[in-house]
Amino acid sequence: MHLKLIHTNDYETISQLTGEIILSLIRSKEKVTLGLATGSTPIGTYQYLVEDRKKNGTSYQNVTTFNLDEYVGLDGNHPQSYRYFMDHHLFHHLDIPTEKIFIPNGMADDLEEECKSYEKAIREQGGIDLQLLGIGHNGHIGFNEPGTPFSSRTHVVKLTENTRQANSRFFSSIDEVPSYAITVGVQTIFESKQIVLIASGESKAPIMEKLLTAKPTEELPASILKNHPNAIIIADKEALKNVNFKQLDESIVVEYK
Ligand code: PGA
Repeated sequence: MHLKLIHTNDYETISQLTGEIILSLIRSKEKVTLGLATGSTPIGTYQYLVEDRKKNGTSYQNVTTFNLDEYVGLDGNHPQSYRYFMDHHLFHHLDIPTEKIFIPNGMADDLEEECKSYEKAIREQGGIDLQLLGIGHNGHIGFNEPGTPFSSRTHVVKLTENTRQANSRFFSSIDEVPSYAITVGVQTIFESKQIVLIASGESKAPIMEKLLTAKPTEELPASILKNHPNAIIIADKEALKNVNFKQLDESIVVEYK
């Protein structure tokens, strides 16, 4: 099992490489299902796709998307909802048919049922072709916090204080940050045919060092990538500054871009 690590100079290169991976999939396959992420890291990738659409008119008519997560209690008009984020950064600028855009509904009356039907919708599409991921400072992927079973499916989570604190920068106060969210599970993510995890900046250096040296463990949800047959990490030099490349396990193949 090899994990590919692409070491880039800067955030712009991460965004360009990730954008190109997504575009080449869309160009090469008739029907594509993407798993998408929110957070600040993917914004550059989304800008790259939006620019490409303006320049080259790439069509997204055959693209279906599933977002990783959504806050419980925020509707799509709330500026901090992930639906709003995705509309603003990506969906309003592309031509993905509305019925092919999936984001967990954090306003659903029956949240358990919402989780089940989200899993079902992913299955009905034949699974995710490419899952884009960011990584939290504690190693979370989606809202799967440390300790989440690798076998987990789409579920409701209580957010850790660490995550609420990290996300409070987008709200006027921490009290406004929801306490619960819906997230696809670690197993759901793992079943994607390809996974691309992106990380940028010095604040991610400690967790990237841990991720690249740790054995797969539920204490570090992103470490599931080490068990995946087709996973890539694309990170810039700031995010990788704590990594001792000479001591990396030989299952990690490093490429410099
Ligand atoms: P970030 O968030 O891209 O804003 O750093 C990543 C995450 O928490 O998954």
